[in-house]
Order: sequence, then structure tokens, then C-alpha cells
Amino acid sequence: MPLFSWSPTYELGVPAMDRQHLTLVEAINNLHEAMLSGQDREAVQRTIHTLISYTKVHFESEEQLLSAKGYPVFDEHRMEHHAFVRRVLEFHNQYMDGRVVLSAEVMQFLKDWLAGHILVEDRKYANWMKERGLVR
Ligand SMILES: [Fe+2]
Repeated sequence: MPLFSWSPTYELGVPAMDRQHLTLVEAINNLHEAMLSGQDREAVQRTIHTLISYTKVHFESEEQLLSAKGYPVFDEHRMEHHAFVRRVLEFHNQYMDGRVVLSAEVMQFLKDWLAGHILVEDRKYANWMKERGLVR
């Protein structure tokens, strides 16, 4: 069973962002799978890399959208993204140095953060955009 089961609750009604969120969820599930199946370090590192690079791509794309639409709490939203990327890079560095194993707690943190961010912060901009007819 995947760590993060996608459900319509996570859909914002902003198609491009919904698609990217689904890809991120898959990247988290792939990493979880790699961890559980005891894949070698290199394989796990590859899945961490994929997760980090896709997270950056997604955040940039979302930030571009919010900035283009003039979202009033853009800075706060971007700060949340930055804090998450910093945290994930920290895990990554610790893992590379062999200081931590990729634990169930780390995986749970990734899942909970993304789920919470989509349901609370992303939902705010989706509602804001919808109220103004900015969603195509
Ligand atoms: Fe976001």
C-alpha cells in the first residue's frame, strides 16, 4: 500500500497544479517503496534526487503562477516552500553522510508536510483564484 494515497480531497481544481501534486505524491511513494524494499544506497539516492528536483520544479511553477496572478500572501507561501526544501536537503545530506537512515519518521514527515500544505496553504490560493475567476 502506498504511503500517500491520493484522493479527490487533495484536488484544488487548478489542473496544472493538481497534476504536479500527483507527480510529487508518486515521487514520495517511490522513495518510500525504495526504502521498504531495501534497495541499495545508490537506488535510494536516485529516488531522493528525483524527489528533490521535482519538488523544486513544482514549487517554481506554483510560485510563478501565484506571482503572475498577484496572490497577496505570495511571500509567506514561498517561505513555506523554502523551509520544506531546506529540510529535505538536510535529510538528503545526512543520508549521504551515512548519519541517518531513511526512517519511517522521515517518510511520514514528507507525507504529512505535503498533505498539510496542499490542504491548507495551496487550498487558500486555489480559493482566492477561483473567487476572482482566475482559474482556467
Ligand atoms: Fe504550495
